[in-house]
Amino acid sequence: MAEHSAHTDTARAARPPLRIALAGVGTVGAGVIRLVETNAGLIARRAGRPIVVSAVCARDRHKDRGVDLSAYAWEDDMTALAARDDVDVVVELVGGADGPALMLARNAIAHGKALVTANKAMIAHHGLQLAAWAEAAGVPMRFEAAVAGGIPVIKGLREGAAANAIERIYGILNGTCNFILSTMEDTGRDFADVLAEAQAKGFAEADPAFDIEGTDAAHKLSILSAIAFGTRIDFASVDTAGIARILAADIAQADSLGYVIRLIGMAEVDGVEGGLFQRVQPHLVPFDHPLAHVDGATNAIVAEGNFSGRLLFQGAGAGDGPTASAVVADIIDIARGYDAGFEADATFSIPVADLTDMAPAPRGHRLGRAYIRFIVADRPGVLAEITAAMRDAGVSIESLIQKGRAGDDGEVLVAMVTHEGPEAAVTQALRLLEGSESLAAPPLVMQILGH
Ligand code: HSE
Repeated sequence: MAEHSAHTDTARAARPPLRIALAGVGTVGAGVIRLVETNAGLIARRAGRPIVVSAVCARDRHKDRGVDLSAYAWEDDMTALAARDDVDVVVELVGGADGPALMLARNAIAHGKALVTANKAMIAHHGLQLAAWAEAAGVPMRFEAAVAGGIPVIKGLREGAAANAIERIYGILNGTCNFILSTMEDTGRDFADVLAEAQAKGFAEADPAFDIEGTDAAHKLSILSAIAFGTRIDFASVDTAGIARILAADIAQADSLGYVIRLIGMAEVDGVEGGLFQRVQPHLVPFDHPLAHVDGATNAIVAEGNFSGRLLFQGAGAGDGPTASAVVADIIDIARGYDAGFEADATFSIPVADLTDMAPAPRGHRLGRAYIRFIVADRPGVLAEITAAMRDAGVSIESLIQKGRAGDDGEVLVAMVTHEGPEAAVTQALRLLEGSESLAAPPLVMQILGH
């Protein structure tokens, strides 16, 4: 036994270092360097070989990033990283769905290098093509950091829950929105004011519209859907709404009814009509649901497996340390298997050629309860007009609150919660009210998350 382990140790110690090239040395890139330096010993033991940085490329060579880059080769041209003989893994941390990041990813695979990326937009738009190339070339492509920062949800699904049929996956996938909503909730402040604070804290995307319009969460959801359900990524079919129209008054109303508001991404295969349902939308979440307690920039994902039951993954969805942790975990996976015939043919848990092409599920028949908020003129008959539209569309109202608005501009807020019914009925009721002079703004509809 002792002899055997001595032999194994020698074999492991003899394995050459895995050499990485970093494209992009911003917050996450600097985090990766700090992590591989700080934890070098334990990473080498776990990976069976050291992981070393060979070369880096970033926009500004002289910028102070808090890490010393002088020991690494510097490339001004990012794509040159892919061609270097002293590089086994290209780590893409540049961002952006297309352009330089995509070109680098393609070149890395073409040169037979493994690819690790944190780029959710690129994977959501081009992940299938990149995976097809990577699988054909027999090189691994990994993107744990693209979804929910430091939370190992992709590994959780690909490995820990691999034996399960996933029935539903949903969660909080954007830290910026979660920070904004939970801060509005804690302070009573309005949206625009809190957005500025979120940007200052540095977890918003370069273009914060991606966060607040739900696009970033939709990128992540479309990637999770592929892994959870074995379907081709279909970002274009994610029914996406953001949080910019949520008022402090909505948060107060939700609170008085026993809910918090959270931006939820949700995906499931429709068991009745067939098709893949994918939606990112603010929801009312009951106080006693685990997602109601996810505050600040934290992310959390619930996956319901047919044997595992409900799994909850929670942690930091952004930031240098957590995102670097996910990037380096992917590199360790590659280090463990790279020389030994790495199984490169299951990028999305199954080979990309075997993913099914599932049509978007129809939505109208989905049953649910909804919160609907109107801003209306404060005059006789307005409430009757709204409730008549609900009646005519077959929407049953569970509760209704009318509140005067601060500023006394002759408008009031009417918020209602419906009994469970088809989403199509709510859509029909709002259609009946379209163009009504009683409405001072388009109504806001949010689904209520069930247990
Ligand atoms: N802007 C993203 C967020 C960062 O707020 O969650 C991580 O993808």
